[in-house]
Amino acid sequence: MEKENIYILGIESSCDDTSAAVLCNNKILSNVVADQKIHTEYGGVVPELASRAHQQNIVPVVHQAIEKAGIKKEQLHAIAFTKGPGLMGSLLVGTSFAKSLAYGLDIPLIDINHMQAHILAHFIDEEDHKKPSFPFLAMTISGGHTQIVKVKSYFDMEVLGETIDDAVGEAYDKSGKVLGLGYPAGPEIDRRAQLGNPKAYKFTKPKVEGLKFSFSGLKTAILYFVQREVKANPNFIEENLNDICASIQYTIIGILMDKLKLAVKQTGINHIAIGGGVSANSGIRKALKDAEQKFGWTSYVPKFEYTTDNAAMIAIVGYLKYLEKDFSDFNVMATARLKL
Ligand code: KG4
Ligand code: ZN
Repeated sequence: MEKENIYILGIESSCDDTSAAVLCNNKILSNVVADQKIHTEYGGVVPELASRAHQQNIVPVVHQAIEKAGIKKEQLHAIAFTKGPGLMGSLLVGTSFAKSLAYGLDIPLIDINHMQAHILAHFIDEEDHKKPSFPFLAMTISGGHTQIVKVKSYFDMEVLGETIDDAVGEAYDKSGKVLGLGYPAGPEIDRRAQLGNPKAYKFTKPKVEGLKFSFSGLKTAILYFVQREVKANPNFIEENLNDICASIQYTIIGILMDKLKLAVKQTGINHIAIGGGVSANSGIRKALKDAEQKFGWTSYVPKFEYTTDNAAMIAIVGYLKYLEKDFSDFNVMATARLKL
């Protein structure tokens, strides 16, 4: 007998991207992301504007995802949505919408932890993408998070270390602001870093014990450095932008790799998966490739569309939980500070 196909709708609205995806078993049929341009002019995400934009986007985005998938909403088996962590107002839009639709269609509702989804995005079935084997280490690096997690199984994860202040993406975005780059600055710094000299300027790496991260000191060091240099030469930024970006990137990737090396040493696990917006970065991708050669690690890097926030990663966790019949109560609440 042929196995029944399971269709899951995933909804993600934790920050500034409204996204919906439809999955058939572990394959993606559609993954629609509406990013919110409105925040660019403010140099960062404005929570109140984000939730209003989610309200405008959610109906057309979900509609488009179902249409692109080539199915009817009545064919859906369950609806998975981001419960947290994230911005409360933004999460509420996705949560309320998911509840109403699941209730209307009389199908199960599945709540998803956004951080778990960044990690389990590696289990989306894609050509040319090998899936990690358990146990592995996951480093989730984004605008909101920096974590190293020991992943023992789909649903058994242990946070080994995380940031005590800013996230790594924030270090990129805030450095970019100092340099007059637009928001988010990560991709632009990355692009310029590849054209510059990574050893042109030296920034001290933060000294934080164990597997904890800290990026706020680096951000301040970059700010003071730029202010000092601009005082001496008002054209300092324009004349040296690629070198400055390359040096910032070199420092940040150095910090991430030092922590990964320590995590490998402490756990004896050398299978490493990365996820989150910063996993799109060319520097970390190259450093991991080098580590495969140098230290014999195996690394797993997500496809670009699954690095920044997206609903495909929510839908895959929805599918895995569906198989376990791990459904939510309709009283489930969005939780801004949800832990892994
Ligand atoms: O995962 P994400 O979309 O949202 C959060 O959950 O935060 O990550 C967005 C972050 C931003 O800080 C952005 O600057 C950063 O990811 N980012 C990058 C790159 N692409 C996105 N940082 C460095 N290099 C990149 N290529
Ligand atoms: Zn994220």
